[in-house]
Amino acid sequence: MSAPNKSYDPVEVSALQPDELDGARDAALAAIAGAADLDALKQVRLAHAGDRSPLALANREIGALPPQARAEAGKRIGAARGAVSTALKERQAELEAKRDQRVLVEESVDVTLPWDRAPKGARHPLTTLQERMVDVFVSMGFEVAEGPEVEAEWFNFDALNFTPDHPARSMQDTFFVESEESGLVLRTHTSPMQIRSLLSRDLPVYVVGPGRTFRTDELDATHAPVFHQLEGLAVDEGLTMADLRGGIDAFVAGMFGEGLTVRMRPSYFPFTEPSAEVDMQCFVCRGASVEPGADPCRTCGSEGWIEIGGCGMVNPRVLVACGVDPERYSGWAFGLGVERTLMFRHGVEDMHDMVEGDTRFTLPFGMEI
Ligand code: PHE
Repeated sequence: MSAPNKSYDPVEVSALQPDELDGARDAALAAIAGAADLDALKQVRLAHAGDRSPLALANREIGALPPQARAEAGKRIGAARGAVSTALKERQAELEAKRDQRVLVEESVDVTLPWDRAPKGARHPLTTLQERMVDVFVSMGFEVAEGPEVEAEWFNFDALNFTPDHPARSMQDTFFVESEESGLVLRTHTSPMQIRSLLSRDLPVYVVGPGRTFRTDELDATHAPVFHQLEGLAVDEGLTMADLRGGIDAFVAGMFGEGLTVRMRPSYFPFTEPSAEVDMQCFVCRGASVEPGADPCRTCGSEGWIEIGGCGMVNPRVLVACGVDPERYSGWAFGLGVERTLMFRHGVEDMHDMVEGDTRFTLPFGMEI
């Protein structure tokens, strides 16, 4: 409050004249009504109701009036300030309501919009099946081995006893990296993991190595240039073909249930001797479809048997290439086709379905297989 104005000065207290006060009040009310948003209203409040507004300044001058004029002036200023403050409050409420309305519209979420425009991916059944196949061997005490997809020719062929002129080395089957002389290939099978395991692990060795393999096949209903195998290798003292047979029997029982017969047909692989193709009894017809007059079986083509892979006793030449004494150790190995297993175990009839990446194919397999 200013000091009492002893020498009454009509100029100094002109703000207390009734029409000045009405003018200040009307200006304030007009500014309040014209404030378009809350920010503008804040400025108006400062200018017309703040400490330095004309009405606040006038209020301070009351003390300078002669005592008999003070009550009258106080009433008038009080009424003017009251009107301004009520108008401010009302406009504030109005503008807040307006803002809330706008925010509601602008920030609203349309809960009826589709939420699954970018659906989650699905595990590929080959991955899930491969893990399941590995699990059967892990439960028997095997460890999981790994190896590169771009492989040295020496691991893929030489160490596995493929002679330099073996037909599998030719450009017809093998993807060579850069040039045939690079010494690098896309592995044509998972068997190089046998060599890598024997070179890097202590004996005895019991490993399974799942992985992607490559051959220059055209994609058709039953072939793909990229496919998967599961390699198995056991090297220990005193292993015989009976152990190989036992391992495969246990795999078939673990994957397809008990009671299916496994058979071996003589075959040839450079890295196993003797070698065999492995067939299992068809798990759908259990061999019944071969009987005359029986219903045909789509799973085995009424053969009664399904081929699941190749196997054999590790060729002593392979053991020697890896520095393992063939007089003391022997071993067995197998290679199983994962795509083939998916085809007959789950009735997938066309390889295209496995490579096209359409989740309408992969989703129904779910997380378990
Ligand atoms: N590597 C062989 C193939 O791709 C399969 C196999 C593995 C055979 C291990 C015998 C032992 O056909």
